[in-house]
Amino acid sequence: MPGAIYVEGLVKTFGDVKALDGVDLDVPEGTVLGLLGPNGAGKTTTVRCLTTLLRPDRGRAVVAGVDVLKHPNDVRRSIGLSGQFAAVDEYLTGRENLQMVGRLYQMRPKAAKARAAELLEQFDLADAADRPTKTYSGGMRRRLDLAAALVVSPPVMFMDEPTTGLDPRNRQLLWDVIKRLVSGGTTLLLTTQYLEEADHLAHDIAVVDHGRVIARGTSDELKARTGGERVEVVVHERDDIPTAATVLRGFGKGDITVEEHTRKLTVPVTGGAKLLAEIIRDLDTRGIEIDDIGLRRPTLDDVFLSLTGHVAESKDEDDDTKGPAKRPAKEAAK
Ligand SMILES: Nc1ncnc2c1ncn2[C@@H]1O[C@H](COP(=O)(O)OP(=O)(O)OP(=O)(O)O)[C@@H](O)[C@H]1O
Ligand SMILES: [Mg+2]
Repeated sequence: MPGAIYVEGLVKTFGDVKALDGVDLDVPEGTVLGLLGPNGAGKTTTVRCLTTLLRPDRGRAVVAGVDVLKHPNDVRRSIGLSGQFAAVDEYLTGRENLQMVGRLYQMRPKAAKARAAELLEQFDLADAADRPTKTYSGGMRRRLDLAAALVVSPPVMFMDEPTTGLDPRNRQLLWDVIKRLVSGGTTLLLTTQYLEEADHLAHDIAVVDHGRVIARGTSDELKARTGGERVEVVVHERDDIPTAATVLRGFGKGDITVEEHTRKLTVPVTGGAKLLAEIIRDLDTRGIEIDDIGLRRPTLDDVFLSLTGHVAESKDEDDDTKGPAKRPAKEAAK
């Protein structure tokens, strides 16, 4: 039986750009799918297709049991959306914005008012509730936009980078809200550039690149597939990076990643603490001074890097540059 979101072979082209090149997804009811991918991978386009804002060229999508292409109006009744860029009315106050959404969803005035007050409290906006939103900071707008998506509790929610631009405290606040929502049975498709967020919230993760799902699994499954632990070394002198890379290449089991500006080298290894001691000795023999060295388990960042060749990059909410994700200097292991 298909899940709350079911997508098969979704294709969308914009002129020469194939934004979606056959996306397949399946999100069981009451679970969270984290959609990860570098800038331009097709995450927002997927969300827009599934929320009826965009018509795909080909493919099939069923949301909350309704065919998205055949019955878009019925789908709209069952979903909530928080887009990548906050969509609040600048001239209305926070409270008015939320009440208006309630009224659009046919809530009675009293109920809309009560729901607005509840959300303003929950999202820490009560003090600013009666100011026009054009006076809000970026993070406040973002929170209001999320609150607006939660005025009614639809069975299926879409959130496109919900916490981009939020400070750590507010990000945590939103994570709590999302967890409560999902424990109440809501199905959520969430895109994010914060891999920690996917790690925290998503039952399942789909990595998208060039309009296709290139990997799928739980966070642990994806990490296991990336294999082994990582040794991270920070050398004291930038000039020592090439020699340190040579040393690590001798011990490593894969590509070495070099972050020039932090003088940090990372390499996948097997062999644990014993190997770490050998690496330290070798570096010492060559007279390379190190500021820091450690062994760590793979993170979702490593997964992302090994799958897409990009480092995940978070953007500020009002950053509309669509440049390529930063690529670390990457050296092939011998
Ligand atoms: N309306 C449009 N017209 C032309 N090209 C578009 C349009 N919308 C998206 N694209 C292109 O489709 C591709 C996928 O874009 P999309 O916005 O889905 O990426 P994304 O994964 O959400 O990226 P980001 O992480 O930057 O938000 C990009 O190459 C983008 O430039
Ligand atoms: Mg996007």
